[in-house]
Amino acid sequence: MNIYRPPSGAKAKVSHSGLKYSSKTENMNGLEEGVEFLPTMNTKKLEKRGPKRWVVVVTIVSIFLFLSLLVGLLVWHFEYRSALVQKPYDGSVRLIGARFIDAYENSSSPEFAWLAKNTKQMLLGIYANNADVGPFHKETEIMAFSEGSIIAYFLSKFSVPKYKVDAFDKAMANLKILKQMEIPRHRNPWFRVESLVAFPSDLDMIKALEDNSCRYALHAKEGVVTSFTTPGFPNNPYPSNVRCLWTLRADANSVISLTFTTFDVEPCKEKRDFVEVYNSLSPVEAHSLVKLCGSFDFSYNLTFISSQNVLLVMLATDAIGRYPGFKAEFFQMPKMTSCGGFLKGISGNFTTPYYPAHYPPNLDCVWNIEVPNGKNVKVRFNAFYLEEPGVPPNSCPKDYVEINGVKYCQPGKVFVVMSNTNKITVRFHSDESHVDSGFSAEYLSYDSSDPCPGRFTCKSGRCVDRNRRCDGWLDCPDASDEKNCSCTEDQFRCRNGWCKPKYWLCDTVNDCGDNSDELQCQCSANSFKCNSGKCIPEQQKCDRKADCEDGSDEGDCGSAVAISCKEYTYKCRNDLCVSKRNPECDGEVDCSDNSDEENCNCGIRAYRKQSRIVGGQASDVGEWPWQISLHVKNEGHVCGASLISDKWLVTAAHCFLEKNFIRYKDPTLWTAFMGLHDQEDRSNSYVQKQTIKQIISHPSFNDFTYDYDIAVMELSSPVSFSKQVTPICLPDASHEFPAGKAIWVTGWGATRENGAGARILQKAEIRVINQTMCDSLLANQMTPRMMCVGILTGGTDACQGDSGGPLVSVEVNNRMFLAGVVSWGDGCARRNKPGVYTRVTKLRDWIREKTGV
Ligand code: ARG
Repeated sequence: MNIYRPPSGAKAKVSHSGLKYSSKTENMNGLEEGVEFLPTMNTKKLEKRGPKRWVVVVTIVSIFLFLSLLVGLLVWHFEYRSALVQKPYDGSVRLIGARFIDAYENSSSPEFAWLAKNTKQMLLGIYANNADVGPFHKETEIMAFSEGSIIAYFLSKFSVPKYKVDAFDKAMANLKILKQMEIPRHRNPWFRVESLVAFPSDLDMIKALEDNSCRYALHAKEGVVTSFTTPGFPNNPYPSNVRCLWTLRADANSVISLTFTTFDVEPCKEKRDFVEVYNSLSPVEAHSLVKLCGSFDFSYNLTFISSQNVLLVMLATDAIGRYPGFKAEFFQMPKMTSCGGFLKGISGNFTTPYYPAHYPPNLDCVWNIEVPNGKNVKVRFNAFYLEEPGVPPNSCPKDYVEINGVKYCQPGKVFVVMSNTNKITVRFHSDESHVDSGFSAEYLSYDSSDPCPGRFTCKSGRCVDRNRRCDGWLDCPDASDEKNCSCTEDQFRCRNGWCKPKYWLCDTVNDCGDNSDELQCQCSANSFKCNSGKCIPEQQKCDRKADCEDGSDEGDCGSAVAISCKEYTYKCRNDLCVSKRNPECDGEVDCSDNSDEENCNCGIRAYRKQSRIVGGQASDVGEWPWQISLHVKNEGHVCGASLISDKWLVTAAHCFLEKNFIRYKDPTLWTAFMGLHDQEDRSNSYVQKQTIKQIISHPSFNDFTYDYDIAVMELSSPVSFSKQVTPICLPDASHEFPAGKAIWVTGWGATRENGAGARILQKAEIRVINQTMCDSLLANQMTPRMMCVGILTGGTDACQGDSGGPLVSVEVNNRMFLAGVVSWGDGCARRNKPGVYTRVTKLRDWIREKTGV
């Protein structure tokens, strides 16, 4: 143990100061050494000894004061006056009056040297002209030129005394103004300076710019796609501790289209490896188009368009992480002359330029839309991505769409903007930095008297089914379908006025928004509410005794203390139990034998999650690497399954029921496809195909009730793990998936009740529903081995063909656990009919017994 003990001297000092008061009183009489407060009565004493003492005292005090002043001055001088701060700046300046020639692209040409010399002189003149900048300039280097008329990119270094930094920063931020103060004798006969800007840089960047070891200059060739890669790609990882720069150029009046065709760098973390693309030749934040890290699969659009004929790509790496890097392609295309336009007709589509590629920076487009006279027009944005890091919600200072004076920039689901005339104007603006994929929109004409024929019109303009009005669910983005409602018999009124179905009362989910649906059922003060609803005295919580019948009072007691084992506690391998909710693989060692953090090579996907896709939608490659497609000879895909080790799968027992005289129990009928994304593309190199050695269905599976709907399958030979093939984590029997938790279900099943199966793996986010409520919704068909998960508004669910597939929950550190197996449902995606899943925690021990996993 490392408790700090003060040395004995220090201790003595402490107690001394504790006695300070009394020791002073003791000294009051013997004033020889003391300096102070003589009793006024004692004037004699004062007269006799006073003058001599005064001199001594005054001298000592003066010396002391003098010394302090000197020290202060020295500190001030060294600390603030002469301490220098290094200030590197990255900038660009436009030179008017000169014409760009090819030789300026080559920094070793005499033409380059001549122009660089002149530009530098002129810059120095501008610096010299400002007292807050000039004296601190150390050196300036011209890094590159590009067209327009000519843009010069430079690097300037300054050394500024600490106390001058503020004034210096201010002056540099105002370089534009500085430039206007250009004095005649510094004026260059060949060109004029325009728009001078410089941005603070950092020393690492300066080092990189001065180091030529990882620098590439590429010029697009007409009609040709040029490609480049990180050093060593694809056979070796990119170098560590480097900044590599690729300067991409195109001919005058062209722009560059750059696409990363493969991208795999270290996963995103602050201060780790990344790639940044700049719409300039100097790597300044203000012109950064995107900062990329992690890995992307090929289905993600990584195309970026420049606004001029240059782009700069930078790879910055640190000492750790060995990743392959990227391969990129670029080509030049003519610069867009106009953007937007006139759109006429009853309906039509329009998008941001180059959609779904990232729109270029520095762009303004206007669409003037007109539908036939007598009709009104609305615009529906089906995709809308104008995201910029750090933009506060509800203000759109950077990129935006503007309609009728309202700016839109938040990424969102579908939204509609209506006009009450037959015309509407849509403006799009992108600023200098950070681009996104933009929008795809359609315009439609409608009858002003009936904007949503046969349906309810939200205030926002969206049309929703009539029966969704006042049903307790917010279907309109502005909630107008739930306003001004009178609650029906089956509803209760929340304190804030909403009407909600009665059976949502006391289900532990805050449905009202103000929690008033959960308040009436709360236990009184000083008592704890068990998950079962029972109230127990607060003191009984975490007293290491189960007082709730389900043990929920001991399930989550903060620290992982060893306690006696119960059904709800996590049991370590050494048979000790810990009281912490879901401690498995959470990155903290909770068991003294470390067993809670072993076998954690599961549940993490290699590809970066693209979180902005919502609802039941197509997945990305590698997004669900544990998902398996089970095929039957001559039938194709029949069921889903989940990979739990290199040999074992978990699926549903009902997939092996005999049907049409086919004995599905026979393992030779089945083939498992791992790493599959597209059912029509099964020969892709990352797909692994395996035959089945054995199928073990749960002996208690009941084909009438679907109780114990679980089976495990053994593959004929082990698979190899990859980015597309990774096992899912199995939750401990004590793992809790609380009601209300969002959870994902995936599969190639039907996308509609009685519909056809999907070709691309689909995903949907649904919520765990409280067991009691579920039992009432599904007419007493639930057993403890089942769990209800869904969206009670309907519209999102698993369906035929998803059976056996995974229901996964995202836990600490984005690790995913198999919460359930798709089992059954009353139709698909119906209102108030959630899907039913086999509860994996209840069958955890059986899985271990059969598979050893
Ligand atoms: N039993 C179905 C199958 O074999 C799965 C049904 C799931 N249904 C639902 N509504 N969640 O594929």
